Amino acid sequence: MRHTEAVLCVSCFLFLHVAAHVRDASRRQQWPVPYRRFDRRPEVDSYCEALYPFCPTGDRDGRLPYMRDTDVISVYRLQTPVWEFKYGDLLGKFDIMHDAIGFSSSETGTNYTMEWYELFQLGNCTFPHLRPEISAPFWCNQGAACFFEGIDDLHWSQNGTLEKIGEISGDQFNDMARWVQDDNDTGIYYETWTVRSEPSPNATVWFESYDCSQFVHRTYRKLAELGAKLSSRSQTNYTKIYLYSGEPTYLGNDSTIFGQPSMKNLAEDIHKFYHPFRPHQSYVDFAFSLLEAYKKVVLDKSFYLYYNFEYWHLPMKPPYVQIKYEEVPLP
Ligand SMILES: *[C@@H]1O[C@H](CO)[C@@H](O)[C@H](O)[C@H]1NC(C)=O
Ligand SMILES: *[C@@H]1O[C@H](CO)[C@@H](O)[C@H](O)[C@H]1NC(C)=O
Ligand SMILES: *[C@@H]1O[C@H](CO)[C@@H](O)[C@H](O)[C@H]1NC(C)=O
Ligand SMILES: *[C@@H]1O[C@H](CO)[C@@H](O)[C@H](O)[C@H]1NC(C)=O
Ligand SMILES: *[C@@H]1O[C@H](CO)[C@@H](O)[C@H](O)[C@H]1NC(C)=O
Ligand SMILES: *[C@@H]1O[C@H](CO)[C@@H](O)[C@H](O)[C@H]1NC(C)=O
Ligand SMILES: *[C@@H]1O[C@H](CO)[C@@H](O)[C@H](O)[C@H]1NC(C)=O
Repeated sequence: MRHTEAVLCVSCFLFLHVAAHVRDASRRQQWPVPYRRFDRRPEVDSYCEALYPFCPTGDRDGRLPYMRDTDVISVYRLQTPVWEFKYGDLLGKFDIMHDAIGFSSSETGTNYTMEWYELFQLGNCTFPHLRPEISAPFWCNQGAACFFEGIDDLHWSQNGTLEKIGEISGDQFNDMARWVQDDNDTGIYYETWTVRSEPSPNATVWFESYDCSQFVHRTYRKLAELGAKLSSRSQTNYTKIYLYSGEPTYLGNDSTIFGQPSMKNLAEDIHKFYHPFRPHQSYVDFAFSLLEAYKKVVLDKSFYLYYNFEYWHLPMKPPYVQIKYEEVPLP
């Protein structure tokens, strides 16, 4: 009797404890989930191979030049359609744009381009590799800032935008440079998707993307904070790739999901989900994969999102996926 009571009490206590914990966790859940910052950028795994080398003409140590305070530096807004990705021209038609910032020193006449992009191309940041020898899906999803000398006027202006949006002092530039380095060391991975509850403007945002245009917005905000005045004659629109879902559920990380036998079913489900999206497929495989992907996302209304190196389940809802080219005003 005594013994049973004790057991009941323990389980009751455990239950209350767990329930309190769950309630606590849901109360503390912040939307959008904050993008995780790291102390420093880890070494890249040698499995990840870049199709194009990252930042080939940038400084090897990622240093930005020092500007004299007497200098006046012009700031340019740069935007161009993404052509080089696997689907070619298609992405230009969907207004998938790449954004960057240009600088030009009036004292030296030298100009520079600054951008933030994937180390191993967009596909590898959006979907993982399923490697037979490793149980967890394997992500080559680092992104980083690249600063290099020169502005390729033709590249930016011919099909995109090259517009001067302001001027800053050498001091402001140097302050921005310190911030860029810190931002680059602590924000290490690319996130393609923005996840929200519905298309309407006052929808809840569950997750923010972390991509080239977000870097441009952060930099503009930093420049404004340092006192710069930025303005554009035209509407400043950027590409956003949206997923629509109900409230996401936290699932766990690699070790909790793929390192525990009790989570086998979930682990298998995540594998199955990413199978249609694997890189390097033949066209026939790709056609089947599109069908498979459609079934998962639209018919089963399910998506496994990888964010902050953790998995979340998204209960998908119409219109499921959208690519929008929307205005984000200068600060
Ligand atoms: C993606 O990653 C694989 C393996 O790391 C690599 O071979 C490939 O070049 C990368 N890029 C693309 C576009 O698949
Ligand atoms: C950002 O980090 C990448 C990867 O380590 C490096 O190649 C690049 O030079 C850095 N960029 C800047 C501006 O510090
Ligand atoms: C950048 O410098 C190059 C070479 O001097 C020049 O051709 C180009 O017009 C400059 N672009 C801008 C936006 O200042
Ligand atoms: C501009 O777009 C056309 C196709 O519409 C393409 O042939 C050309 O190479 C593009 N120019 C640049 C500089 O990317
Ligand atoms: C925004 O929210 C308000 C109140 O919550 C609602 O009345 C309104 O219809 C919403 N707007 C849109 C465009 O959904
Ligand atoms: C994964 O999650 C567990 C439980 O929350 C935690 O103890 C562990 O440190 C995490 N692993 C990594 C690599 O973040
Ligand atoms: C730019 O964004 C605005 C509002 O977000 C939209 O109405 C407009 O059509 C967009 N412009 C283009 C060229 O897509």
